[in-house]
Amino acid sequence: MGNHSDGSPNHSGTVATAGQNVVEKFQDPGLPPHRLRLADTDPRAAKRAERQVAILFGISVIGTVIFLVSYFAIDLGQDSTIATIRTQNLLLGLGTAFAMLGIGTGIVHWAKALMPDHEVSEERHAIRTEEDRQAAVRIVEDIVEETGIKRRPLIRNTLLGAVALAPLPALAVFGDLGPRPDNTLAHTMWAPQDGKLKRLTRDPDGTPIKASDVTIGSAFHVIPEGLNELQEGKLNAKAKAVVLLMRLNPDDLTISKGRETWSYNGIVAYSKICTHVGCPVALYEQQTHHLLCPCHQSTFDLTKECKVIFGPASRPLPQLPIAVDAEGYLVATSDFKEPVGPSYWERDEHERLINS
Ligand code: FES
Repeated sequence: MGNHSDGSPNHSGTVATAGQNVVEKFQDPGLPPHRLRLADTDPRAAKRAERQVAILFGISVIGTVIFLVSYFAIDLGQDSTIATIRTQNLLLGLGTAFAMLGIGTGIVHWAKALMPDHEVSEERHAIRTEEDRQAAVRIVEDIVEETGIKRRPLIRNTLLGAVALAPLPALAVFGDLGPRPDNTLAHTMWAPQDGKLKRLTRDPDGTPIKASDVTIGSAFHVIPEGLNELQEGKLNAKAKAVVLLMRLNPDDLTISKGRETWSYNGIVAYSKICTHVGCPVALYEQQTHHLLCPCHQSTFDLTKECKVIFGPASRPLPQLPIAVDAEGYLVATSDFKEPVGPSYWERDEHERLINS
């Protein structure tokens, strides 16, 4: 028979290439000669490999325990510091890495050092008869037998321990989806204390800001007066209270009913926490009066009370009502009138509570 024009092999053991050259048919080299591993011939080496596998599974168990202990034992409450958060993140990451790597490397080492390494092929046809089903069951039983899991209780027990514990970190993390949030986001440090209004101060040095310091087009990152005197741990208080302060031409502002006294001569203050998923809104486009969240590009129009004009955020940034005190410093006349930050199911209910 002649050669096929597409280069496929013909029955004479030759193939034709595009250039009409005829070459010998490629011979299947077959499997390389089987080499026995140390553990196949030396029972002590097999025992050693078994212990190594068990140690790797044990490392996985230790990793899971590190994760759980650092998750539950390290308190990230109101007083937590950056160092505490970093330590916990480090331990959670290391714990997860050890837990996953221990199981993965243990199984690879087990397969390479102890399980049979002969090649098997699987018949690919539909199982229709009882005989076929029995054959399939026998294959599964052979596999179980070949893994040696029945003969090697050390590996079996450590594997069971590692696999049983491995999902616990995920359960713990999913547990953080509940319980429902209380109204923590509805209250910030801007609420007047003992009738005293809080001054707006520069972030991070805490210098009070006079209305005359805020020129048209300028923008300030602002924290409430007194925040810096708190102990170092008040990260949550700061995270909730950060504000952006800007001044526009008063004629450019659209002010809705009820907010007439919330700004001062074109100076407006808005929560810096994006209403999408809480990144800091940090970019102010002076020409367009747009505030931009760098995380997912939500854009808020400052002239329209920070209405969302682009991006995934669904609510305007909450506005902080401000005025000027007798010495000319900017003060917050009240807390925010709505919870700050991203949306959550109970948010409307909390907003009603604030305004009732
Ligand atoms: S967090 Fe701001 S756009 Fe997503």
